[in-house]
Amino acid sequence: MSVGVCYFPEHWPREEWDEQLAAMADAGLERVRMGEFAWARIESERGDFEFDWLHEAVDLAGDHGLSVVLCTPTATPPKWLSDERPSILAADSDGTVREHGSRRHTCFSSPAYREEAERVVTRLADEFVDDPHVEGWQIDNEYGCHDTALCYCDDCAAGFRKWLRDRYGEAETLNEAWGTTFWSQRYGSIDEVEPPGPTPAEHHPSRLLDYHRFARSAIVDFDCVQVNVLRDRNPDWTLTHNFMGDFETVDAYAVSEDHDLVSWDSYPTGFAQDRKEESATVDELRAGDPDQVGLNHDLYRSALDRPFWVMEQQPGDVNWPPYAPQPADGAMRLWAHHAVGHGADAVLYFRWRRCRQGQEQYHAGLRERDGSPDRGFYDAATVAEELEEFGGTDALEPVDADVAILHEYDNWWAITAQPHAPDFDYWEHLRTYYAALRARGVDVDVVQPTADLGRYDAVVAPTLHLVDEDLATNVDAYVRDGGHLLATIRTGVKTRANQLHDALAPGPLTETVGATVEHHESLPEAIPTTVDYRGETYDYRTWGDWLDPDRARAVGTHRTGEAAGRPAITVADRGTGAVTYCGVWPGEDLADALVVDVLDAAGVEYTDRLPDGVRVTRRGDLTWVCNFGSDPVAVDPPTGAEWVVTPVADTGAGDGEATGAGGFDAGVVDAPPTDLRITRR
Ligand code: GAL
Repeated sequence: MSVGVCYFPEHWPREEWDEQLAAMADAGLERVRMGEFAWARIESERGDFEFDWLHEAVDLAGDHGLSVVLCTPTATPPKWLSDERPSILAADSDGTVREHGSRRHTCFSSPAYREEAERVVTRLADEFVDDPHVEGWQIDNEYGCHDTALCYCDDCAAGFRKWLRDRYGEAETLNEAWGTTFWSQRYGSIDEVEPPGPTPAEHHPSRLLDYHRFARSAIVDFDCVQVNVLRDRNPDWTLTHNFMGDFETVDAYAVSEDHDLVSWDSYPTGFAQDRKEESATVDELRAGDPDQVGLNHDLYRSALDRPFWVMEQQPGDVNWPPYAPQPADGAMRLWAHHAVGHGADAVLYFRWRRCRQGQEQYHAGLRERDGSPDRGFYDAATVAEELEEFGGTDALEPVDADVAILHEYDNWWAITAQPHAPDFDYWEHLRTYYAALRARGVDVDVVQPTADLGRYDAVVAPTLHLVDEDLATNVDAYVRDGGHLLATIRTGVKTRANQLHDALAPGPLTETVGATVEHHESLPEAIPTTVDYRGETYDYRTWGDWLDPDRARAVGTHRTGEAAGRPAITVADRGTGAVTYCGVWPGEDLADALVVDVLDAAGVEYTDRLPDGVRVTRRGDLTWVCNFGSDPVAVDPPTGAEWVVTPVADTGAGDGEATGAGGFDAGVVDAPPTDLRITRR
């Protein structure tokens, strides 16, 4: 099972459903997601449920051999419910109530909304409990989309206070943990604490961080209400939620904990425009950035450490980024192969057919609004056929990464509250190291710092900011037992409550790193920023630590500015492992040099530096070669290696000879990445 599509039968006349579902099956699609956003259609008035249409659509899908994923409709409650129980509505930080008329306007903490969600999900689950065509459920849709993870309504105020009481017990403990002496922020009672509404200057960072943590638990609790109902009705159903790309405010690890699989929604050309610091290049506007997309694939694969799904794959041009250039020819095929190479078990395109009504009229589907095939349709059908070359994704080995990047939402939230430079973005910084590893053909897991790290040969910890003794012990044990750690700027700076440690950074990790940060500075572009590292000079940006190597060896030195001559990068042995500390935000070349040295020390194999836009991933004996660039590349596999999926623009070479991959092209070859020679033509 591999390729599928999202379908909204309720948008179309019933007489057309059979023909449309037949066309999906004919194209080789095997899964269809339905029922999303359909609350008003299944319950037009309280208690007046109408499921005939959905049963009919599910039956027809089943008749055509399609497996069905149903959705719970809680991202879009009906108007009558918003009117009848207005306490379900969310509020902005200034108290403005989010009104009916769009979607995601409800509050996760609202007891009334949890009750209504449980009621509708129970009815749905009962309806489909014995349906053999329904393999599972997508719970809700994109938690937190449209800036909705944090709500500031009265239910949230009460929920936040309860959460604080559970965590701190009494006000004195909270005052101590947050440090409320500053600016007279002391609380006499937890009852006085409010959600962080509008203030003249910044909010207290500890309060902000805890508000994110409270919101995380509210989302998890809301999700659990639905999980419990669905599990209770049918434990065999597969449960998932569709997360978003580069998304900060919803903790995918926490939400996924009681799900069966993680899925996410991938819109590469949209992300390249609206979620990156630098303007998108022409190629990115046509196909996206493989590292931006790949990092999300790897995060969501790692969240449950098992194959993930792309629940929504961009099908063509989309409505929501600033501009909507047509994706490159072949891009919709490329994205699906790229996802499978990163460990996806299924890729479902969003959506079957362009919709004539509502907010997303300017969003493509695999079919045009008149039902005729659109560009994405041909790509989807091609991928469905090509994946059969290896027996579908079920036949594939999982990704087995030797290297992990540590990522934690709490760190993301803490840095966002106090970036200390306009361009200090936690995720961009993390992606610098991710991209360097990917440019060397190295597969990467993206795991929490509390994970069992012993399975990785090397671990990169970009801005491991909030560190307590327990966390430090986990990381230190990994190193002492032979691990190779690359730690970076702003690590070990704060307590878990978001106060500075008494000790200089890296605080509880000082013994591990063997050096301390004497001073730090954030740096605008006007100040030159270069370092020397092992005999070469490199650029860096945004942040510099001035290091005092104690036990460690200085292997990099600031070359410019006030820091000139001071250590910037250190290496220390610890137990049978070693730690490199990089005290700057490296440019691409320095990031490459650093990861290569750590990979060498850790004995991890890597490729030559891949051409820009070209990436490789590995599952078992197979390697995916994906070219997100417009220029073709030459791929030279070793003698005896075969292309399992041949690049579309294959120039026809045979066994062991160089083969071509065109622009925006992909292929799968049965040789390890390190045995391929890939050059831009
Ligand atoms: C996703 C969302 C879909 C649809 C799509 C448009 O974020 O889950 O419902 O809105 O974007 O690209």
